[in-house]
Amino acid sequence: MQESIQSLVPKVQIKACLFDLDGVLVDTAAYHYQAWRRLAQTMNFDFTEKQNEQLKGISRMESLNKILTWGKVQKTEPEKEELAALKNTWYVEMISKMTPAEVLPGAVEFLSALHKNGYQLVLGSASKNSGMILDKTNLAHFFDAVVDGNMVTKSKPEPEVFLKGAALLSLKPAVCVVFEDAAAGIEAAKRAGMKAVGIGKKEILNKADLVVSGLNKLTIKDLENL
Ligand code: BG6
Ligand code: MG
Repeated sequence: MQESIQSLVPKVQIKACLFDLDGVLVDTAAYHYQAWRRLAQTMNFDFTEKQNEQLKGISRMESLNKILTWGKVQKTEPEKEELAALKNTWYVEMISKMTPAEVLPGAVEFLSALHKNGYQLVLGSASKNSGMILDKTNLAHFFDAVVDGNMVTKSKPEPEVFLKGAALLSLKPAVCVVFEDAAAGIEAAKRAGMKAVGIGKKEILNKADLVVSGLNKLTIKDLENL
């Protein structure tokens, strides 16, 4: 049998794994949705789970702007600041009660296996609350570097968060793989020149190199085949 040209190209060896937080390591995507819905309901409208998909991976203010557009509500900038702060208060109320039991299935096992096998681990999240979540869920110790919403100016699908993560470890993007549950995050990874593993549904994450339903479905071997 003739070998395909693809299989003759040497695979780049992955050195670092960059993890999104919300929806990949912990199920905070559900808490974001609850808090945003509560805010929308105070303005007498609601939005669907399908619309909520568009909020995954993007910043707090960008999320609010989308929601206000859906509700056909106009607000001034100071009012928007107030609304975003109110949503964050409700969100923080929920995440401050989180425990390690809320880490998604397979996450601790996969992070441990990567660490044991010498991969460097980076958190790449749009959230300004990532510090609290990592502490509450006891995940902080896994990471060699953390880049979060407090450190980036352009949120996903811009590649900044992941490029900063690679730069902190002095690594080239080509040796990095990103794990993401948001379409915007997969796009950010691809724009950064990294491999991307989608955690969720194939229909939504179709630009990823591989899509699985959760970290519990992944092994180190999968990284070698990307
Ligand atoms: C991302 C979430 O991780 O963080 C988005 O997917 C969220 O939905 C964004 O808007 C910002 O989060 P926070 O905690 O700073 O409001
Ligand atoms: Mg996410």
